[in-house]
Amino acid sequence: MSLMWEDRYSRRADLIQGSAIRELLKITEKPEFISFGGGMPAPEVFPVKAVEEASERVLAEHGPAALQYSTTEGYRPLRRWIATYLSRDGLRLDENNILVTSGSQQALDLIGKLFVDANDRIVVESPTYLATLQCWRPYGATFASVPSDQDGMVTDELAPILRPSAKLIYCVPNFQNPRGVTISAPRRRELVAVAREFDVPIVEDDPYGSLRFEGEPLPSLMCIDAAQRRDDQAYDGNVIGLGSFSKVLAPGLRVGWIAAPPRVIEKLTLVKQATDLHTSTFTQMVVHDIVSRGIMERHIGVIVDEYRRRRDVMLAALTEMFPQGTTWTHRQGGMFLWVTLPANVDASKVLELALEQKVAFVPGTPFHADGAGRNTMRLNFSNATPDRIREGIRRLAAAIAEVLNPVSG
Ligand SMILES: Cc1ncc(COP(=O)(O)O)c(C=O)c1O
Repeated sequence: MSLMWEDRYSRRADLIQGSAIRELLKITEKPEFISFGGGMPAPEVFPVKAVEEASERVLAEHGPAALQYSTTEGYRPLRRWIATYLSRDGLRLDENNILVTSGSQQALDLIGKLFVDANDRIVVESPTYLATLQCWRPYGATFASVPSDQDGMVTDELAPILRPSAKLIYCVPNFQNPRGVTISAPRRRELVAVAREFDVPIVEDDPYGSLRFEGEPLPSLMCIDAAQRRDDQAYDGNVIGLGSFSKVLAPGLRVGWIAAPPRVIEKLTLVKQATDLHTSTFTQMVVHDIVSRGIMERHIGVIVDEYRRRRDVMLAALTEMFPQGTTWTHRQGGMFLWVTLPANVDASKVLELALEQKVAFVPGTPFHADGAGRNTMRLNFSNATPDRIREGIRRLAAAIAEVLNPVSG
């Protein structure tokens, strides 16, 4: 008789759910699919040559060290570079503020392991990044949602939600996943002030901030917090910042970081040690070689131009082809547009028809901790080429029309 594996899994395993996006990506990997589904960068602009040249230099200059085990905190020159990169507008960080992670998704998991106990209340924007919900649920997190509008999290509504207790506030301040919204400057100040008043840490997850097509960048929550504290030591405030090279270089590298007060970094380092010892030494060195030569900054310019063009193509196609009563966001950066369909249209029905037509997107519901958003959809505009964007929107428009007016018989 075969072993009943299910009886052996931990209670925590019952709370581990698959991701709608990951499942979708498996189907839509086939080249005939047009995918507006995952948060995938454009493969055409990956810096393949730069990575190849950096890899050669790393092996020539640091061969054995690049292939050896290394410290859990991360490659020191890369930690220093990240600290300097983030130190602006009154924020001072040094390498002790930085832990290098295997992408910011690992950072989320390490934070979940360190902070979240059963039934802890975590405050999130509604909707929010669904892989954070997925990542923290098995640790026992429950989620309290703060509404979000065109200016991001509605911070006026934060105080009652933080009462009587909240463990963490989680937000994606720039070009948020999924809605693409950015938290406005006044709301950033209010968020930092309210979090401080209630003594609740903020997890500021910012993989998209550098992908700005128009307008001026806004100060990070960590910068605002540091400026208000006027610390002259390395940062020791309320904000934990997450960053990543996934969207600005390539996600396959799997390099990201956590910026936090040194004592929090020390504890997170122990958590990471038990998880994977350290992030790939070789890859960290390759990333350091690229960023320290200014190649990443130039590359961001290329990506931003391309993504602006793709966003504009998608916006024009939506205007031309989507039915009346549908609205969508117009964003100044990032990778996503958020579409609200007429109230009676179920986006998961649209997805069924869309998949038959070989076009994919992610329905909005899984991004809502409370199961709302039935008539919403997230569209990624960075991955498909402009002509495929137009074709994909045409097929989606047909699928929506069919849900609105089913052809009988
Ligand atoms: C808001 C947000 N956080 C974290 C991640 C994880 O990114 P990575 O692990 O590739 O750095 C993503 C990826 O799409 C994201 O959108």
